[in-house]
Amino acid sequence: MTEAKLEAWLDETRSFAPSPEFAKQANAQPTIYAEAEADPVSWWRRQADRLVWHKEPTNTLEWDLPFAKWFSDGTLNASVNCLDRHVANGKGDKVAYHWVGDPEQDSRTITYKELLDLVCQTANALTELGVKTGDRVAVYMPMIPEAVVTMLAIVRLGAVHSVVFAGFSADALSSRILDSDCQFVVTADGAFRRGTAAPLKPAVDEALESCPNVKAVLVVRRTGGEVKWVDGRDHWWHETIDHQSTSHTPEFFPSEHTMLIMYTSGTTAKPKGIFHTTGGYLTQVATTYNQVFDVKPDTDTCWTAADIGWITGHSYIIYGPLINGVTQVMYEGLPDSGGKDRWWKIIEKYKVTILYTAPTTIRTLMKWGSELPKGHDLTSLRLLGSVGEPINPEAWMWYRENIGGNRCPIVDTWWQTETGAILISPLPGITATKPGAAMKPLPGIGVDVVDNDGNSVGNGEGGYLVITHPWPAMTRGIYGDPERFKETYWARFPGKYFAGDGAKRDEDGDLWLLGRIDDVMNISGHRLSTTEVEHALVGHPAVAEAAVVGASDDTTGQAIVAFVTLKLTTDDQGKDQAEVIEELRQHVAKVISPIARPRQIILTPELPKTRSGKIMRRLLRDVAENRKLGDVTTLTDPTVVNMISELMDTSVTSDE
Ligand code: PRX
Repeated sequence: MTEAKLEAWLDETRSFAPSPEFAKQANAQPTIYAEAEADPVSWWRRQADRLVWHKEPTNTLEWDLPFAKWFSDGTLNASVNCLDRHVANGKGDKVAYHWVGDPEQDSRTITYKELLDLVCQTANALTELGVKTGDRVAVYMPMIPEAVVTMLAIVRLGAVHSVVFAGFSADALSSRILDSDCQFVVTADGAFRRGTAAPLKPAVDEALESCPNVKAVLVVRRTGGEVKWVDGRDHWWHETIDHQSTSHTPEFFPSEHTMLIMYTSGTTAKPKGIFHTTGGYLTQVATTYNQVFDVKPDTDTCWTAADIGWITGHSYIIYGPLINGVTQVMYEGLPDSGGKDRWWKIIEKYKVTILYTAPTTIRTLMKWGSELPKGHDLTSLRLLGSVGEPINPEAWMWYRENIGGNRCPIVDTWWQTETGAILISPLPGITATKPGAAMKPLPGIGVDVVDNDGNSVGNGEGGYLVITHPWPAMTRGIYGDPERFKETYWARFPGKYFAGDGAKRDEDGDLWLLGRIDDVMNISGHRLSTTEVEHALVGHPAVAEAAVVGASDDTTGQAIVAFVTLKLTTDDQGKDQAEVIEELRQHVAKVISPIARPRQIILTPELPKTRSGKIMRRLLRDVAENRKLGDVTTLTDPTVVNMISELMDTSVTSDE
């Protein structure tokens, strides 16, 4: 669809009705919202029956604001819920993962029984190394099956995993290890990126120089080659695990037993150790996986294209899918490892039915052109998901038309590390969808959009997103810092969870997420979201990607500075840059308002991104305001930001 057509369509129709074919076989039925609303707490208790409990809970919710306990007198084991139950039900031969390596020749298929055996062996080995219930274990691993095995073995023992994304630096790793006092680390010698081996263990060695409490490091041999070895501390995975017994008798832990810590960035420099407990977290990831992705374990092959180093990988590559007993694809590489059509090859080969990814990836794939997906059979797909940031309507429509063949519903899922599971999303077959809108809170979830004083806004208005009552997978806090937990999330609007996101209710009352409120700009007293301006820019046919920041301005308070990447194929690349910039400024003025017209537009071949694919707006704000650059260690390519600084210095400012 062209941009003009898309705009006309959005004006007229605004939404896609749920597909009747989909509705007929959907897991969730339309009555689900009313059932949950009638009594959300009892509704969640019924969802907890998706789990195998050793002792069934009789308590459901104990709420001592802001501290919740769910199913507190129940006991269970997370890995039994993911594995033993399926093997006991005769599903041991079912494929759990089709693992696809970064180098094309690497692949491995692992059944539920094989996975259980590996997890038992690893649990036995970790016990031998001294890991006990309640101990924290840092996991710093590439996307290899051993990462999943490790996490499941840790929770099998009632220990706590703290997965640190393998793209983080040694400093980031050591600060996380120290913050939660991890005494064990599991890692690999290296990882593959576009077919080339990159070392990983040196970062662990460096990190551990400042972590004297770490007793043991378990190392998977993934790439081969030399590694530095600390005798007594370091252990090869194959030497420690291969000879272990494949039987392991699990213990059962209280529902509120801590299961995982995941560090995430807040507004201060120190990352927050968000922790989750067992029963509530597992209940909600299992429920949302079933309802939002509508999974059919006997026929679906699901692919969550995320990294286990982030919460999406935890909830929707490991716990949600395994509890539901589905077959998945797990991919180690980058979207263009082995060619720009690698994803489409994978979908075709494994007949993937459900694909879940992030808007930034969708835009990258879009930039590479529609011809690549057209060259592959993608008809196995039946549902598409998006997560991580607001998705602009153009990318949404491209995804729907070019990947989903106009037949797959798209679920735009809003959630956070802190929420543990999806809270806002359409339900396929039930909820209408709109390009760019996450639509509705899921059953059992209370959401509101409020103004500065905490009053609900009306339809057609924007404000702050809050969650109005506790949900099972909500974080139980910031590790070791209950005060920071209260202040960050519960102080702004007393009694409500403040998500830090802006949101809008449209005229129909449907929800649009507008991004973090720290990205909201105030231009001459007008409040504008950076996301809104980005949407406008990305809506221009020449633009592949855009990042917008509010830079301080003597006259207007803040002014808009936009960093824009043009599409590779566009004719505009041959045009005079000043002409393109002026055209883009006029375009934004036309789409939003003249007040939204960027003061400066910097055309750049790349944007600075974290290794998880998020654009580092903080750094762009530094560039836009001529400040010394902050921490650049989490960037995929730190040189990008220097290049942008130089472009900024030579760019033209418009005072209009
Ligand atoms: O701003 C929201 C954005 O990502 C933030 C949470 O980031 P993180 O904890 O890293 O978790 C990402 C994966 C769940 C939110 O505060 N976000 C996430 N999903 C969406 C989104 N913004 C708009 N639409 C979404 N679907």
